[in-house]
Amino acid sequence: MAKFDSGVIAAIKSRLDIVELVRRYVDLKRAGGRWMAPCPFHQETKPSFTVHPDGYFYCFGCRASGDVIDFYCQINGLDFREGLTQLAEELGVELATVKPDPEADARRRARSDSIKMHSLAGEFFRANLDAPSGKIARDYIVSRGLSPEVVSAFGLGYSLDDWHALEKHLRARGFAPDRAAAAGLLVKNERGNVYDRFRGRLMFPIHNLSGQVIAFGARTLTGNDPKYLNSSESPIYVKGDHLYGLFQARRTIAHKKTALLTEGYTDVLSLHQYGFTNACGVLGTALTPHQVRRLGGFCSDLYLVFDGDGAGRKAALRSSEMILEQGLKCRVVLLPDGEDVDSLLQTQGADAFAQLMESAEDGLKFCLRTVGRTSTREMVDWVHKFLSGLKNPEWKSSLISEVALNIGLNEQDLRKRLQASTREAAAASGGAGSGGGNQPRRTAQSTRGEKLDRQLMRFAVRNPRFVRELESRGMGEALSTPFANGLWGKMVTQPDADIFALLTEPEKRYWVECNLDGPDSEEQVDKEWCDVCEHLSRVQLNCQKRFTIDALRRAQMNGDHAEVQRLLQLQQEILGRLDEQH
Ligand code: UTP
Ligand code: MN
Repeated sequence: MAKFDSGVIAAIKSRLDIVELVRRYVDLKRAGGRWMAPCPFHQETKPSFTVHPDGYFYCFGCRASGDVIDFYCQINGLDFREGLTQLAEELGVELATVKPDPEADARRRARSDSIKMHSLAGEFFRANLDAPSGKIARDYIVSRGLSPEVVSAFGLGYSLDDWHALEKHLRARGFAPDRAAAAGLLVKNERGNVYDRFRGRLMFPIHNLSGQVIAFGARTLTGNDPKYLNSSESPIYVKGDHLYGLFQARRTIAHKKTALLTEGYTDVLSLHQYGFTNACGVLGTALTPHQVRRLGGFCSDLYLVFDGDGAGRKAALRSSEMILEQGLKCRVVLLPDGEDVDSLLQTQGADAFAQLMESAEDGLKFCLRTVGRTSTREMVDWVHKFLSGLKNPEWKSSLISEVALNIGLNEQDLRKRLQASTREAAAASGGAGSGGGNQPRRTAQSTRGEKLDRQLMRFAVRNPRFVRELESRGMGEALSTPFANGLWGKMVTQPDADIFALLTEPEKRYWVECNLDGPDSEEQVDKEWCDVCEHLSRVQLNCQKRFTIDALRRAQMNGDHAEVQRLLQLQQEILGRLDEQH
């Protein structure tokens, strides 16, 4: 990963208020000098998630922590680079990497071009909907029973029945057709002619979590194929990375801790209209792990809505497996024959759907029932495969009990059968069995060295202005654990900069935890400073003591009596000073 200029990171942080940003996703309540909410990173109802106006967040429950950039990355399922790029774009900060990288520059330009063009296109389509030529779309919206509120909240629009309408619109605003084609808004054919991709269709903008339009779904109004035409992949839109309506649904999802997942564009709209504002759509592909991780940032329990037919059940099975393997829970809502969510809501109302949700089957039960129809053997094979796919092997043990309970085997039997299945799989692949074994657990016993390191580092982290002084007093030699040494190394090489971006996850967590209590009084800092100095000087004296003992031995072997005398005297002094300290 290319390192970013710390100036860029500082520029982004100075323009972002962490409270404002977190508020986009979580309902924060003021509590003294900080802000609190139920944690968006794990399931809970009591608020243990805190945001500190000086730039950190911390959860007392799951220990999620970091600064404003970390929050943005974690909640959106982005890596640091992606998150920083998006934030920089949003804030208009030039992202200068340390090494000039023309390829990255070109990519960045393509992305920001695409965002701008999609924003223009979205506005253009919306305006068309209100224009006289948009009557066909307005009539269609009415015929589908969609409310003006939902139409506006989701930014629906209309693409004119014209081969060059959007092309002209964008060109007039400085975007050449080639650039618009690269963004997926126009099509370029073999003869090099460029024309509008979306014509005479009802337009459903797809937003990212910052609310920017990144793609479109477009429904025919005339019966032309395909029924739904979707944006192709582009610099800003990768299929399977996004969910339709998540931008509009994210607050309710975070608040209710559950999300409703459905397949259709209009299904999502109807659900929101009928009060299920935690609904989003999977966008024409099978549900992907990326999408699940995205949702996992907001909730850990999903309702999957599928057709009750064979294809629907199959899709529900695959989706449930994947969600459970990612560590989330799910429930499966199967629709009655011939209905989709939209038709059900429009004809039978919200209560009918709420009832279906209430009778939804637990995802794991649904999987076991669906795969277990043939034989127990097949069920055990499924469980075996399912357990080895778990993102975190530590979940295995609790899932085994749950599975056993569900299939009416006792746990012992199930474990035996699973072991047999592991052996067979290993024999078949010709290797040693890898599944089933328990991970060795690291004991959390802390040694004396660890404890001292923690005390020293806590002081350093809370009082970074002492870094140089600490260094000259031998802090580096006093630390014994790799963790403390690593963190200290970073503080010493970057004494004045904001080093947060250089820290690893555990380091950041430690950093934030050290600062949770708020600043100490001056007397308190003075007192701690004295303790730290005393400790450091003791470490140095002990070091000198060991050194003089070695030197003394050498001098005696060499018969250097003068040196022996000098070292003995030095040794006396050191021991005396060490005594004074006790
Ligand atoms: P459906 O054919 O069930 O349509 O496709 P729908 O959502 O009920 O649409 P309406 O109610 O007739 O307007 C379900 C979903 O599959 C994707 C779309 O996301 C659609 O909402 N799809 C379907 C496509 O991407 N392309 C298609 O041609 C058809
Ligand atoms: Mn439908």
